[in-house]
Amino acid sequence: MVNVIKALAALLPGRVISGSQVSDKYSVDWSGESAFTPAIVVRAKTVSDVSKLLAFCDQEKLPIVTQGGMTGLSGGSTPQASEIVLSLELLSGITDVDVESMTLTALAGTPLEQLQQAANEAGFYLPLDLGARGSCTIGGNVATNAGGNQVLSYGMTRALVLGLEAVTADGTVIRSMNKMLKNNAGYDVKQLFIGSEGTLGVVTEVVLRLFPKPLTKQSALCGFSNFSQVVSFLQYMQRSCSRVSTFELMWDNYVKQVRQMNQQLTPVLANDDLLYVLIETEGNDPEGDDTFFNCQLQACLDDGILNDAVVAQSERDVSRFWQLRDGVTDILAKVKYRANFDIGVPISQMANFVHTVEVELTASFENLQLCTFGHMADGNLHIIAWTGREADVDVIYKQVYTLVGEMGGTITAEHGIGTLKRQYLSLCRLEQEINLMRALKKAMDPNNILNPGRVI
Ligand code: FAD
Ligand code: LAC
Ligand code: ZN
Repeated sequence: MVNVIKALAALLPGRVISGSQVSDKYSVDWSGESAFTPAIVVRAKTVSDVSKLLAFCDQEKLPIVTQGGMTGLSGGSTPQASEIVLSLELLSGITDVDVESMTLTALAGTPLEQLQQAANEAGFYLPLDLGARGSCTIGGNVATNAGGNQVLSYGMTRALVLGLEAVTADGTVIRSMNKMLKNNAGYDVKQLFIGSEGTLGVVTEVVLRLFPKPLTKQSALCGFSNFSQVVSFLQYMQRSCSRVSTFELMWDNYVKQVRQMNQQLTPVLANDDLLYVLIETEGNDPEGDDTFFNCQLQACLDDGILNDAVVAQSERDVSRFWQLRDGVTDILAKVKYRANFDIGVPISQMANFVHTVEVELTASFENLQLCTFGHMADGNLHIIAWTGREADVDVIYKQVYTLVGEMGGTITAEHGIGTLKRQYLSLCRLEQEINLMRALKKAMDPNNILNPGRVI
């Protein structure tokens, strides 16, 4: 190890920290599981640093784990024994805003929120948004193909990436900085790096697609007593409004838990509903959009599709609604031994799935707590389940993933496989699919130095 530190310090002067210089922030991602303080952290500042590090590690067969903002929830960026950490925290900044092409280009370690602000200042809109926006990096978003709160209208990260630069295991820099919407010149190699969780290469720079800023935005918090009302409401609003950008569903167990953890959150709706939806629509008619939105909600109330609704009258109201939805951060930070799911099931099976999970887990575990919420319109549910006992966590995972597999769902709709879901991959992917993944990994990283033990 001493020789490796010396060699790296000579290769990358000023970029290497080791031993007591390495702080806890490099030890574990937001999953909080299996923290391990690495012996060596390389803080790359340029693509050339990344390339030199990878070429060296490939030659010496030394494993590396790449770290962005460490907000991942699948253990992917948590170091394992003998891994060198490649931190991209210094590889940060916006490199280009092209207002005519409507693109924004940034280095991989740039926090998402900075990109949202830069797009806004340039008069545009970057629709990628998630609760971890302040800390997660665009490189991490690309590596995990992050979803978030506006997938319904704008797609996942994959749909927003026009081009990128990545470094492959042997140190080769693949610069594929396309800015066009269309490009069919051979294989679209950037897709290999999007969503492959750092196992096929290190993303160093990203070209993102920007959108015109919507002129108006409407937000409401709505209450329902059953799931079929929610489905009818979603379809009604998608038919009648020009763009439903957000449709976030929260069960009452989630809302109660968030309020309990944050007593300052006063109830928004008077009724005691079973389900709550935070809906947002976007439009371009400042004269008519708000009235139109109110009329659609009124029509849904009249038809019994909706029990109750509060429409935001100010930015303060909007942030009150989002405080409820972003309250998941408190749950993740405060609950220790938890099973945290980001599963996907078809909308047609969602109510049955949630009911079955509740019945089966309640029957199996004493003092079970459940919080159910998620990006329902994307078929993506979050469930956080805990009993206070560490030993129950793996049993809960197994039970729920088995149900997901039986219903033809996915064990991860957005956070990725990382290390934590690896043993369950075969519940939702066929053997032939996994074999193809393995073949790709072998072709691109024959010495298995990039994020080993993640995904496959
Ligand atoms: P990290 O955690 O540092 O890394 C994640 C994975 O990507 C690791 O495997 C790592 O090795 C790899 N990686 C990181 N950077 C690179 C790179 N440049 N090149 C190659 N590989 C790399 N996720 C969603 O999809 N939707 C949500 O709505 C959402 N909400 C969240 C809310 C909260 C409160 C929290 C804590 C997390 C949430 N997440 C969500 C999960 C997480 O924020 C995302 O997965 C995010 O994209 C991770 O970015 P990061 O920079 O923190 O990556
Ligand atoms: C969310 C994270 C947990 O949607 O994915 O809040
Ligand atoms: Zn989510």
